[in-house]
Amino acid sequence: MQQVVSKAISHGVYIVTVRSGDKINGMTAAWVSQVSMRPLLLMASIAPMRHTHGLIEKARYFAVNTLPEGRQDLAKHFGFKSGRKVDKFEGISFFDAPNGSPVLNDALAYFECSLTDSFTAGDHTLFVGELVSAKILKEDVQPLIFRWEDYF
Ligand SMILES: Cc1cc2nc3c(=O)[nH]c(=O)nc-3n(C[C@H](O)[C@H](O)[C@H](O)COP(=O)(O)O)c2cc1C
Repeated sequence: MQQVVSKAISHGVYIVTVRSGDKINGMTAAWVSQVSMRPLLLMASIAPMRHTHGLIEKARYFAVNTLPEGRQDLAKHFGFKSGRKVDKFEGISFFDAPNGSPVLNDALAYFECSLTDSFTAGDHTLFVGELVSAKILKEDVQPLIFRWEDYF
């Protein structure tokens, strides 16, 4: 059944970033969605073992960075190593969103969210956040679409 889901439910590819004190980190996430219009709420589904998970619980802010098409390299960079072991931002240019979440200069757009709720959903946690700041950084560029075969 997982193969059917992977083939027929579409996702983009995002870097979910967080700042907690002097620590910053980011991880690749495909399971990201808008879940409400008023208020404008976004959701990121993150497994509890990710380093990013604990950082979001502490920071109570996170940012969703939309990757542009062709940037599977960034998805791999942030998606196959843990911030517990390496500084994934070394060599990556970024700026701070208003509440401190790092934003990749190479992102197509960013969305900074204030954490409003979290729900356990099977082996993941759904972090829901209200949008507090957002910007398109690259006009006329298409978002990267998740394709299983690009990564696994
Ligand atoms: C294309 C791609 C999509 C991913 N999507 C998710 C996701 O939606 N949720 C999740 O918990 N992990 C996802 N991952 C795995 C994390 O990005 C990966 O475990 C990462 O190393 C966690 O980093 P951290 O420990 O620094 O937080 C994805 C990985 C890749 C390559």
